[in-house]
Amino acid sequence: MNDLTPTREQRTAALEGMGCKRKRVEDARFTQGKGNYVDDVKLPGMLHGDFVRSPHAHARVKSINSEEALKVPGVLAVITAETLKTVNLAWMPTLAGDVQMVLADGKVLFQNQEVAFVVATDRYAADDGINKVVVEYEPLPVVIDPFKAMDKDAPVLREDLAGKTSGAHGPRKHHNHIFEWTVGDKDLTDAAFRKAEVTIKEMISYHRTHPSPLETCQCVCSFDKIGGELTIWGTFQAPHVIRTVVALIAKLPEQKIHVISPDVGGGFGNKVGAYPGYICAAVASIVTGKPVKWVEDRIENLTATSFARDYHMTTEIAATKEGKVTGLRVHVLADHGAFDACADPSKWPAGFFNIVTGSYDFPTAHLSVDGIYTNKAPGGVAYRCSFRVTEAAYCIERGMDILAQKLGIDPAELRLRNFIKKEQFPYHSALGWEYDSGDYHTAMKKMMETIDYAGLRKQQAAQREAYKRGQTREIMGLGVSFFTEIVGAGPSKNCDILGIAMFDSCEIRLHPTGAGTARVGTKSTGQGHETTWAQIIATEIGLPADNIMVEEGNTDTAPYGLGTYGSRSTPVAGAAIAMAARKIKAKAQMIAAYKLEVHEGDLEWDIDGFRVKGLPEKTMSMKDICWAAYNSVPPGMEPGLEAVSYYDPPNMTYPFGAYICVMTIDVDTGVYKIKRFYALDDCGTRINPMIIEGQVHGGLTEAFAIAMGQEIRYDPEGNVVTGSFMDFFMPTAVETPHWETDFTVTPSPHHPIGAKGIGESPNVGGVPAFSNAVNDAFSFLGSTHIQMPHDYWRNWQAAKSLGVFA
Ligand code: CDP
Repeated sequence: MNDLTPTREQRTAALEGMGCKRKRVEDARFTQGKGNYVDDVKLPGMLHGDFVRSPHAHARVKSINSEEALKVPGVLAVITAETLKTVNLAWMPTLAGDVQMVLADGKVLFQNQEVAFVVATDRYAADDGINKVVVEYEPLPVVIDPFKAMDKDAPVLREDLAGKTSGAHGPRKHHNHIFEWTVGDKDLTDAAFRKAEVTIKEMISYHRTHPSPLETCQCVCSFDKIGGELTIWGTFQAPHVIRTVVALIAKLPEQKIHVISPDVGGGFGNKVGAYPGYICAAVASIVTGKPVKWVEDRIENLTATSFARDYHMTTEIAATKEGKVTGLRVHVLADHGAFDACADPSKWPAGFFNIVTGSYDFPTAHLSVDGIYTNKAPGGVAYRCSFRVTEAAYCIERGMDILAQKLGIDPAELRLRNFIKKEQFPYHSALGWEYDSGDYHTAMKKMMETIDYAGLRKQQAAQREAYKRGQTREIMGLGVSFFTEIVGAGPSKNCDILGIAMFDSCEIRLHPTGAGTARVGTKSTGQGHETTWAQIIATEIGLPADNIMVEEGNTDTAPYGLGTYGSRSTPVAGAAIAMAARKIKAKAQMIAAYKLEVHEGDLEWDIDGFRVKGLPEKTMSMKDICWAAYNSVPPGMEPGLEAVSYYDPPNMTYPFGAYICVMTIDVDTGVYKIKRFYALDDCGTRINPMIIEGQVHGGLTEAFAIAMGQEIRYDPEGNVVTGSFMDFFMPTAVETPHWETDFTVTPSPHHPIGAKGIGESPNVGGVPAFSNAVNDAFSFLGSTHIQMPHDYWRNWQAAKSLGVFA
């Protein structure tokens, strides 16, 4: 050793592996305007498609006349359901086992539904063509209120299902009913309620909202008539699934379909599903033999391609007088819009909503969910949430606050009394999940100490006294939220999409110079996978992260994967990456043993290579092993250094967190101020703390938006009244509060590197924290539950209804 020999710390730091705040490598291109998005794809002779959409929420389509449209210069074709019927594509299957019209077939069922697809030489001509298509509608009665959808005399929405008494998820009770899903022990739960000393019951609604990524949904389809090959560039979160779906519905050989997700500008669940735009662009390209581009505008995105939430949750908790919970009973009315196009694993009609027992040790619980049709856009995507988990977290976290209020126990204290204890993990919940690991008490206490919870409560009490004395018109709320997420869909025993198990994959190829390429079945839509996946490999096989290039999103090169959504990338693909790296390491060890002329068992791993046990100077670095892999492998061994792993996780991972929001509200104006927001997250082993912090900031901002104003609202006629960013709350840096972040680390015991997901957590935990803060502020004036979103106007209305102006 001399002074120039790097220390162990320097060798570890040089790798920029797990735990390092490595700068995002993808940002070099994003910050210089060099990203390559779908709309950047410009092919020779490319045509453009755009939709004629329905102004009505429910109407019969009497006729469609394209004559004048076809006279518009540049317009080449107008595709309708009749055209699509000739190729058997007028309807398409949904991920939820329903079918959906690609273009209006006889009637329309929601405002802005796709009616006809105009194909033209440029987007302007397509738009001019749209205005010339004459559609004759006969308006029909509209169902917007989910509570009226199953009235006896409610209009029949889905005439195509007439006479069908069962659907993809069992019996249907009514012509607008989709499914009923029940979980848990009803008798035991009913008995717990009969015996309960205290109960609460509240209808808690989680309003309809929308993921609204910066880049809307779009695609370019290019069909090569000679080779019979279809190439699709699209904003897909799950490109391989799209390839399989296209193969199945277009009856094209799967190897002749090439799906490419280039850079994607945010997904948040919006880009999981298959939309009519993709089908129409593909059909148009097959028919014309030219590439066809379809790009949604903002209004189309907000009003037609998917939505999130719209869950109406009647929540009951049974408890003892001391505040020990003894039972949970929840009924959900789930508004799925006109078609059941929810993006959930096949067997889960209400996603993982049965995580609704949250972080608490409920001895018994019962859940029932009724899915229903209304005249709203289809979807039900996991908007930064692992399949209805945010709805579940909101339900239980509001429920616990309501119970605390009824019992006169502090909400944080009530949670501490009911948490699943550290020693109870792995924990089997009353609704069927096996929580892998957790230490809730430590996280909650850290949060309470860091923000001086007791001090804040004293400040609140003083503020309330001042309010009562008329010295202030400001009220103060503390919104506590403690959530347990369930991410990493998923184990093949539980989860599939259209019959394909929800594994994920990684292929790593190391090159002679100690560099490598990793191809992964996920698709980053902004999460920084190019940065973090290389960090996992760096730590596992001792090559600097900078030497590893990560590729995703091309079905021709990436191994088959189920994509990125629901924070599944780290729990599933992250594990596949580690396992592929370990396969490489095992071969590398054999090569090193051969070169060092020792037995494999005499070697031990040391940061960036192998050394002989007891002889620390006898080493072989991974870089040197890479070279040796291409020129002097042991006799009988194949040269090269590469491996593939398809990882089927044994369980989900269960990240958790303790959040608190401190808020004041001016009762005269409803204007709120977020004084503090503290978020403690536990996502197990942390790969890149800087990226985690970025994920938390983004998720909290979306949670803030949803809780405090963001909503897709309809008038009684079914018109979307929040269909643009003029009305749909999209917070900018001006409105967004300052975020304080913190963490604990409780590794997942079954994940190869102990990591759990993080992307969704802040949205799941954030929404109840904001809503609980508003409700906590108003509670001393006599209110129990105020529905979201809590914008100024609704806060003012709440104040008014509580008599503050009397
Ligand atoms: O599936 P998605 O990428 O949206 O979510 P995720 O698995 O929670 O990962 C989001 C980002 O955070 C990725 O770049 C992960 O590598 C990173 N992450 C991390 O650094 N450490 C964790 N324990 C979890 C995620």
